[in-house]
Amino acid sequence: MNSASGDKMPPMDLQPTARLRVLSGIRPTGQSFQLGNYVGAVRHWAAMQDEHECFFFLADLHALTEVPDPDRLRARTRESVAELLAMGVDPSRSTVFAQSHLPQHVELAWVLGCLAGFGEAQRMTQFKEKAAAGTPASVGLFTYPVLQAADILMYQASAVPIGEDQRQHLELTRDLAQRFNARYGETFALPQPYAARTGERIKDLQDPGRKMSKGIGGNGTVWVLDDPGTVTKKIKSAVTDTGREVLAGEDKAGITNLLTILSVATGRPVRDLELAYAGKGYGDFKADVAQAVVELFTPIRARYAQLAADPGHLDGVLAQGAAQAGAVAEKTMADVRERIGLLAPARQAC
Ligand code: TYM
Repeated sequence: MNSASGDKMPPMDLQPTARLRVLSGIRPTGQSFQLGNYVGAVRHWAAMQDEHECFFFLADLHALTEVPDPDRLRARTRESVAELLAMGVDPSRSTVFAQSHLPQHVELAWVLGCLAGFGEAQRMTQFKEKAAAGTPASVGLFTYPVLQAADILMYQASAVPIGEDQRQHLELTRDLAQRFNARYGETFALPQPYAARTGERIKDLQDPGRKMSKGIGGNGTVWVLDDPGTVTKKIKSAVTDTGREVLAGEDKAGITNLLTILSVATGRPVRDLELAYAGKGYGDFKADVAQAVVELFTPIRARYAQLAADPGHLDGVLAQGAAQAGAVAEKTMADVRERIGLLAPARQAC
């Protein structure tokens, strides 16, 4: 079963008037979310909720591929709700839920798994990358992208704001949707990535050849909840190159990454920043990047502390989200079950 679509996915410019359905997820892993999660995904989530119908969820079933400590996963899932809210996700405008609260996701993943080719799944690069980096090479890790496809198609999402590392999974999602539609009739909307122009892939500060990641941590990862001193230390010790010019370029991965971060944190285009730092050394530049990130995350840390102190509220957000998401998920699954030929259970007369 080869890729059915093969078509390119153009970056979308969302029209403010079109009330598109938006969906995205994040795994409740790591000690908190990291700068790349904020830049590549969550800041867009917060920005999209006014104009679009948004579903955001914690991919706790996907987190199981890392075999986390059970108590830690439970605690981290709740903490993650507080972090999302602190970063601007608003449960009165968006549906916020935990993936495992909706068993329909796993059901749809099985259905899609029966349409996905083994070779097609083998072409997903994340399995090899994660397994090489120490994640157990389980069947769950192998079928991870199929569950992700189910997450997206369940809600008929048109736009999926994600970082660059998730694009291949979105291509698979589109292929599976097209295959399902061709076989069983038009059922699923085809999702598009939401691609920002800056910061789709924030790099590790200690190794700008690879992406910043919750799974790697260390001095190369800025956690959203890091205290200001730690943020400053990490950014000041970021690996750069031997030159002196603050310019973006292929041979200057470290400086390019810091320019991207400063651009996102200040809202100033990279070109303006290059001009502003002409003739200044890396030291001044790094100090300003550190300061900008501290200013960006300080209010988030403060809001997080307040929200985390009220676990009942966080559980209530997830309960409300599960009810809202469940209505959509059940509708999709009723349609899917009927189309693929599953016999509906007979109602028992009482
Ligand atoms: P996760 O938890 O690894 O990451 C959450 C989001 O953050 C983005 N991201 C980055 N963006 C830019 N630079 C980085 N260094 C960086 N690191 C992470 C990711 O691209 C992602 O958008 N498989 C997903 C979770 C998921 C999902 C879904 C997402 C499950 N089902 C359905 C969208 C739709 C993941 O592991 O995200």
